[in-house]
Amino acid sequence: MRALTYHGSKDVRVDNVPDPSIQEPDDIILRVTATAICGSDLHLYRGKIPQVKHGDIFGHEFMGVVEETGSAVTAVSKGDRVVIPFVIACGSCFFCSLNLHAACETTNTGRGAILNKKQIPPSAALFGYSHLYGGVPGGQAEYVRVPKANVGPFKIPDGLDDEKVLFLSDILPTGYQAAFNAGITLGSNVVIFGAGPVGLMAAASARFLGADKIFMVDHHAYRLEFARSQYGVIPLNFDEVDDVAEAIIEQTNGFRGVDAAIDAVGFEAKGSSVETVLTTLKIETSSGHALRQCIASVRRGGIISVPGVYAGFLHGFLFGDAFDKGLTFKMGQTHVHALLPHLLEQIIADKLRPEIIISHRLPLNEAAEGYRIFNEKEDACRKVILRPGI
Ligand SMILES: NC(=O)c1ccc[n+]([C@@H]2O[C@H](COP(=O)([O-])OP(=O)(O)OC[C@H]3O[C@@H](n4cnc5c(N)ncnc54)[C@H](O)[C@@H]3O)[C@@H](O)[C@H]2O)c1
Ligand SMILES: [Zn+2]
Ligand SMILES: [Zn+2]
Repeated sequence: MRALTYHGSKDVRVDNVPDPSIQEPDDIILRVTATAICGSDLHLYRGKIPQVKHGDIFGHEFMGVVEETGSAVTAVSKGDRVVIPFVIACGSCFFCSLNLHAACETTNTGRGAILNKKQIPPSAALFGYSHLYGGVPGGQAEYVRVPKANVGPFKIPDGLDDEKVLFLSDILPTGYQAAFNAGITLGSNVVIFGAGPVGLMAAASARFLGADKIFMVDHHAYRLEFARSQYGVIPLNFDEVDDVAEAIIEQTNGFRGVDAAIDAVGFEAKGSSVETVLTTLKIETSSGHALRQCIASVRRGGIISVPGVYAGFLHGFLFGDAFDKGLTFKMGQTHVHALLPHLLEQIIADKLRPEIIISHRLPLNEAAEGYRIFNEKEDACRKVILRPGI
């Protein structure tokens, strides 16, 4: 089959690779009909995540049709159309029982990414995401093996186009979890750092949950303009506004700051040349630029919600400011399984339309070009979807 594989920093190729096969009785083989490139894939693409091997198949946002089922699979049958969460969860361990599927302690055969690990098990395996997370082949391919198929695949009702439901695999639940964790309710004011797909899904979710003012920070004017026109955000371009946090505070009641801040950027945040140098020298593993501005923008007693991926340590983290303001932090990979059914209902009811962010549709064979365009933010790229078989 054809699949998008890694060959080094900024070198991904669509290669011929062996077809996947059933390995466990509760596996299925899925024929992929649509798959997307995620900002998380860009961290891999830029060679920033350890233990990614040459030939690894990427892709954790995908859906398709069940082609083959293992002997113990009862939840789905051949021919079913399903969306697959990017997190692989067993459904029955301690954490799965708490609806914390991204913390599933049984699926990841890798080490996990935590530095000060002690004896705790790693978090859940992820599709197409480094051997730290199990080295499970991903879905930017014609076919993919899906483990834990009595738990992971979610059936999609007929008549809903792939584009409408594909983002249930990751970015819609991720944006929703970010907004939910930010405590957004009717009338909340919030700032979202990052106007990429996750930031946009967080804005859509914040609107859905009743937010009043939504500030959005990025330096790609076309992304900010899209968010303004679709979600009514107040855009702030950090190439033009010197002190973004100050500009936000000036627009809140009593100069108190916003109720919550969402960091949809993560460890490759731009804007601090010191941290860029330190991370290149590997003295620092993350840039704290977006996170520091979150802390500065939020009011006392507010919440910082972090869907953006972080790795390792941050030196410039103003923990004292967070303490002084009495802040709450919520973060982590998304518990997709717990959120997906509710979000599917909202799509069916036409209350959420995640597909509007798609800007590029390419055949799988052009996936490498899709990575390049998305990484370079060329051609006003917001989100790329790939169609195997076209
Ligand atoms: N928690 C999860 O389960 C989960 C799931 C999906 C993605 N993610 C993570 O979410 C993050 C965003 O993903 P995406 O698909 O939107 O990626 P993306 O790369 O398309 O978007 C990131 C945006 O942040 C902007 N940015 C960079 N530095 C900034 C700064 N200092 N302030 C404000 N904006 C800044 C960039 O210009 C870009 O538009 C990534 O770190 C990704 O790995 C996490
Ligand atoms: Zn993703
Ligand atoms: Zn589990």
